[in-house]
Amino acid sequence: MAKEIVLSGIRSTGNLHLGNYYGALRNFVRMQDDYDCNFFIADLHALTTNPDPQQLHASVKQILAEYLAAGLDPEKSTIYIQSDIPEVSELYLLLNMHVGIGELMRTASFKDKARKALGIGPATEGADDEAFEHQIIGAETNKRVNAGLLTYPTLMAVDILIQKATKVPVGKDQEQHLELTRRFARRFNSFYGVDLFPEPQNYNFGAAAVKVPGLDGSGKMGKSEGNCIYLIDDPKVLRKKVMRAVTDEGPKEPNQPVSQPVANLFSLMELTSAPEVVAHYRQAYADCSIRYGDLKKQLAEDILAVTTPIRERINDILANEDYLRRVVADGAERARARAAATLAEVRQVMGIRKF
Ligand code: TYM
Repeated sequence: MAKEIVLSGIRSTGNLHLGNYYGALRNFVRMQDDYDCNFFIADLHALTTNPDPQQLHASVKQILAEYLAAGLDPEKSTIYIQSDIPEVSELYLLLNMHVGIGELMRTASFKDKARKALGIGPATEGADDEAFEHQIIGAETNKRVNAGLLTYPTLMAVDILIQKATKVPVGKDQEQHLELTRRFARRFNSFYGVDLFPEPQNYNFGAAAVKVPGLDGSGKMGKSEGNCIYLIDDPKVLRKKVMRAVTDEGPKEPNQPVSQPVANLFSLMELTSAPEVVAHYRQAYADCSIRYGDLKKQLAEDILAVTTPIRERINDILANEDYLRRVVADGAERARARAAATLAEVRQVMGIRKF
């Protein structure tokens, strides 16, 4: 029986952090033996935030090396660069004909990124959406919200649908995009009366989607939040970051509720430390004997145990340009074959025919 198709990607906007690792990359590696796996570097998506052209290529190469260093195996998985698949750009144009600008404007990630582009603060509870829309439409030319940002979910849906993937391992922050992908697939199928696109689901081995918190007490670890632990952080830097993580004054009475910054540290521990270590510190919190300094030291060492073997491989892999080139050339060839077949079907059902 044919293996189920898995697909996921990461934007080339810098080095990979623990959010990328636990939300996505770790599962990529774990899924390789059992599925038809396709993992790519989303360099077209990275363009939505207008990176420096010099930086873009370096970032793509870096992520490719980090994928391989973390254990992605080109013998088992198709590893490619999004812009090497021109069929993706064509399907992006075609699928956009079935996507509403209203539904795109209501996407949480669009609202966040548009606010950043316009230099306005984060949304507040019950914020006035109409005023926000006015700001987008009326924005000065030097502070524009580009159309690529708006149609970001279409491009992501195309990445998935063009390979007919059914399982998409991503972190919690990408679930709304997956919901849109399913909606676009259903809409396309029913509009043309076909069964062309399957509906993809997030996948985390049966567990809920992961959200890795930041070290600054905030909700999410993210590149633009400046609160990341990177896979390439050397031990000194990494220990310093963890030791500086925000905490509170410590529990004053037994079984006190845990504050957000401390809950974040426990979440990171749940991901990296052994269950008995987590249990020990939870108990210490409950009976007020906890010392956050000890918890942080332990956490830093446990994170290093995960990142060190990866970090140590990255530079060797980066130095091997020939190998990197071969991996993505081979990946592009394989990914393009299926993309071209899907695109041909789409053109056919939409009525685009050759004379
Ligand atoms: P990106 O580049 O923002 O993130 C890549 C992956 O890392 C996960 N992630 C996190 N998971 C848990 N906690 C966090 N703090 C955290 N930060 C990042 C993301 O959920 C994601 O899985 N739109 C995608 C890239 C993309 C894609 C696709 C993914 C483009 N096309 C098709 C899947 C399928 C993105 O921006 O991810």
